Amino acid sequence: RPGQNHHPAGPSTPPSSPPTQSLSIQRQLYERDFPLYKQPVEVGHFSLDSERRFFNDARQLRYYVEPEKSCPNFDLRDGYRSRFVKRDDRVKEKLDHILRWILANRSKLQSKDTAASSSPCALGVDIVTWRGHLTKLLTTPYETREGWLLAVTRMGGTLYISEVETEAARRDRENRTERHEEMMYWGYKFEQYTCADDAQSLPDPGGVVNTNEAFCTVVQTRLAEHRLLFSGEVDCRDKDPKAPSPPANYIEMKTSLEISTPKQRSNFHRFKLLKWWAQSFLPGVPRIVAGFRDHDGVVVSVETYHISKISQLIKNETNCWKPTVCMNFCCEFLSFVKSVVTEDNPRVVHLFSWDPHRDVTYSIHRDSQYSFLPDWYVREMTS
Ligand code: A3P
Ligand code: MG
Ligand code: MG
Repeated sequence: RPGQNHHPAGPSTPPSSPPTQSLSIQRQLYERDFPLYKQPVEVGHFSLDSERRFFNDARQLRYYVEPEKSCPNFDLRDGYRSRFVKRDDRVKEKLDHILRWILANRSKLQSKDTAASSSPCALGVDIVTWRGHLTKLLTTPYETREGWLLAVTRMGGTLYISEVETEAARRDRENRTERHEEMMYWGYKFEQYTCADDAQSLPDPGGVVNTNEAFCTVVQTRLAEHRLLFSGEVDCRDKDPKAPSPPANYIEMKTSLEISTPKQRSNFHRFKLLKWWAQSFLPGVPRIVAGFRDHDGVVVSVETYHISKISQLIKNETNCWKPTVCMNFCCEFLSFVKSVVTEDNPRVVHLFSWDPHRDVTYSIHRDSQYSFLPDWYVREMTS
């Protein structure tokens, strides 16, 4: 159906013609030069405390303490029953924390080039979203299991992108096994073994793991013509006071099953490193510290991955992912969204939907359950 599909490499759609109806995710369409991705700049940060309350500061930022031994024997199961407070994941916070940060920091955002820009808008950015939503977009060309729903609203010339939980994801969340529930704790427990509250102190493995607590960076960058503002959780920072400025001093913590066979190594490269790379590359976090664990949740080794070296690491893997496909797809999706979502109205949502082996499509919703920009934000931004 020529003309119906948004063609990535094709000429741009004239403003008067109707937007195309779908976007193809075929990988070969996105195999071209790596798009411009400007070095992300941290424009601010915020913290969420043990009760998920917002603070416009870095009180939850933690400091990485390198384990004493290369085989640390951290028991990730410790404290799961007695010292764990789990965030209520039935509560959908949408973009609320980012919007709170924007209202508290509007002056920092009115960038110098806003006035001169060809598409001036209130905030001086085209896209506001969570880093995690962009991670999902980056990995879409290689995703075979989980689809997504992204709600988009245009206000003041800026596109706000907020995820909606799919039916399948809701079913999975409500039907997790006890084993899976416990394993979701392990990643946070690893952070507790390796992160301290300040640069002088040591980690406290005897404390409570509370997954309400978070430190989030807010970064600004540009992907081709798209000016992005997004926020993402940061696990910890380098404790050396001479470390470079954020986000270059940030460290992402991960856990993974120890690798004992060539097949496991190949799967790790093809699937896990894709997600790890996408998540940290976006905000410019340069390093991942990975704890490799056994089936009983005991960390048997710790390794550092430099994001800039991951593409080299996977080069010899057959059938592997390519960073350029991820970035070009994300870029085309944002162009597609811009061409579709032209009505500037906080009450209108375009719901973009994608399922594995399908094209991206969308539907339009006015004053619906999908509206996500809160009144307190709309009022403040339009007054
Ligand atoms: P691991 O990354 O070690 O698996 P993050 O790594 O993004 O900082 O997230 C911290 C931890 O939250 C993860 O540790 C994992 O335990 C849990 N987690 C994150 N995303 C998850 C998801 N989609 N499903 C289940 N657990 C998740
Ligand atoms: Mg984290
Ligand atoms: Mg982590």
